[in-house]
Amino acid sequence: MKNIIIANWKMYYGPVKAGAWVRAFRRERLPKDLEVAVAAPFISLPAVRATLGRALAPVLAAQDAFWANEGAYTGEVSPTMLLELGVSYCLVGHSERRHIMGETDEMVAKKARALQLAGISPVICVGETEVERRRGNSKKVVRQQVQKAVEGIKGDGKAPAIIAYEPVWAIGSGKPCSAYDAREMHETIRTVLKKKFGSTADAIRIIYGGSVDTRNILEFLTTTDVDGALVGGASLDPRAFGLLCRAAVPS
Ligand code: 13P
Repeated sequence: MKNIIIANWKMYYGPVKAGAWVRAFRRERLPKDLEVAVAAPFISLPAVRATLGRALAPVLAAQDAFWANEGAYTGEVSPTMLLELGVSYCLVGHSERRHIMGETDEMVAKKARALQLAGISPVICVGETEVERRRGNSKKVVRQQVQKAVEGIKGDGKAPAIIAYEPVWAIGSGKPCSAYDAREMHETIRTVLKKKFGSTADAIRIIYGGSVDTRNILEFLTTTDVDGALVGGASLDPRAFGLLCRAAVPS
């Protein structure tokens, strides 16, 4: 199983800038044993795909999806629509959606299930807030988030999802979680997954997100139970992101 690095552009880069990013990124040399994906805004996904041409990386990802495939849901985008565009991965339950848009664990679970049914791998984002960590509740909070999110997911022998551990206090703060803490949290997540999926859990990648950059990526990716990274700010410059991807693999 390859490690995966997913760029999360958040609400940056409309179609014009997205196309320019991909054109620049295509010149970057990428390590063979690393999978690279880019989670672009919905409206920019066609431009990313068109600019990619025959390039195999980055793989297309979305930042959210609704739980029904069609219907009277003004403003929403469905898993099957994303599939038409060639999307392979889709974030669900990112902390910004949970805290700004009010997404609940139940909504996250429904979205994850719908994505899996459509054949898109959900990237389920979980993580505690600063207050929850200070109170010593990190493991309890994350355990619950994971349990609820995977309730409707089937473990069919293949990796049914990716889990992204993103402590809220580390996102965009320049203060990443320590590799030691990440390992502890990822182990906690793996235990929850083992209870639900048995040996399939070993094939589920658990990736870390929160102030990942070129200097700390290697330490995270060489930590036990860390199978990749979800990168926000450090993915916006295509050349710097190329450098980050190369720095993720020991030379
Ligand atoms: P930063 O890498 O900017 O901290 O963002 C992390 C994140 O939210 C990725 O989903």
